[in-house]
Amino acid sequence: MKEVVKVECDGKHDTCPSRDSCSRRILEIQDEKIRKNMSKIKYKIGVLSGKGGVGKSTVTVNLATALNSMGKKVGILDGDIHGPNIPKMLGVEDVQPYADENGIYPIITPEGIKVVSISYFLPNKDTPVIWRGPKISGAIRQFLSDVVWGDLDYLLIDTPPGTGDVQLTIMQSIPDIDGVIIVTTPEEVALLDAKRSVGMAKMLNIPILGLIENMAGFVCPYCKKIVDIFGRGGGEKAAKELGIDFLGRIPLDIKAREASDRGVPMVLLDCPASKEFKKIVERIVKKVER
Ligand SMILES: Nc1ncnc2c1ncn2[C@@H]1O[C@H](COP(=O)(O)OP(=O)(O)OP(=O)(O)O)[C@@H](O)[C@H]1O
Ligand code: SF4
Ligand SMILES: [Mg+2]
Repeated sequence: MKEVVKVECDGKHDTCPSRDSCSRRILEIQDEKIRKNMSKIKYKIGVLSGKGGVGKSTVTVNLATALNSMGKKVGILDGDIHGPNIPKMLGVEDVQPYADENGIYPIITPEGIKVVSISYFLPNKDTPVIWRGPKISGAIRQFLSDVVWGDLDYLLIDTPPGTGDVQLTIMQSIPDIDGVIIVTTPEEVALLDAKRSVGMAKMLNIPILGLIENMAGFVCPYCKKIVDIFGRGGGEKAAKELGIDFLGRIPLDIKAREASDRGVPMVLLDCPASKEFKKIVERIVKKVER
């Protein structure tokens, strides 16, 4: 039987007999790599929602595209490990990242946005990722520590819905995260979940940049009347109640959805959703860069 050597941890790794297998030391080394990597990025923002399908990935790719059009250097970390949609939404799916001794290089879109997503490391784009929490957190931390992001103005992090491992890892691992944006639709169920995301950020002392109400009102392409499928104003009211900023309201827009499926962000179109989204971007930039 192998003798178990009991080590009194004094935090001095250099002389410790357990140094090569010690998980605490390995995490500390990775924390240091994350700190160095993130220090080259001016602003780091997470995009959250409590409920699925409310438009987080849409907000992420459009915010990135709008910032890029303003001349900012932008990266996107697709933190949705189970449902990575960012490559499809930006039209950069069938590519392979390059890696060398410096790390993994992000994919760069034709517009110049840097992207990393788990989907680039899967055998094919339909392969499901069946991982438990610790492995998911490990992948996110590796994207933060080992990706050669370089000097960026903005790193946007798309997340899956809820208040789970990805959100916790992002909020705890990025040392000076600038804040999170909460996305919701206006109906009660989504608002209830959005309040949970706000609660999580508050508990962890992460600044909340504000709330976006998406899919608020549908402009009928035939009669041009507005139909409030999910209601309207719920997000603004919830933001007031929660004491956070309301960043704006984006209507449901068929053109925006069709373009997104083709890998074209709505901010590149001339449509009602794009107009509203651009106002939201201005508010975010003003808040973050003040
Ligand atoms: N304002 C909008 N008008 C029309 N379609 C929209 C709008 N916002 C989002 N969509 C569409 O709704 C679908 C869901 O959006 P999206 O994938 O961004 O949500 P999500 O919150 O990231 O979802 P998930 O929780 O699954 O990650 C997408 O097909 C997207 O193109
Ligand atoms: S290697 Fe691990 S057990 Fe050894 S001193 Fe460092 S933290 Fe403590
Ligand atoms: Mg998404």
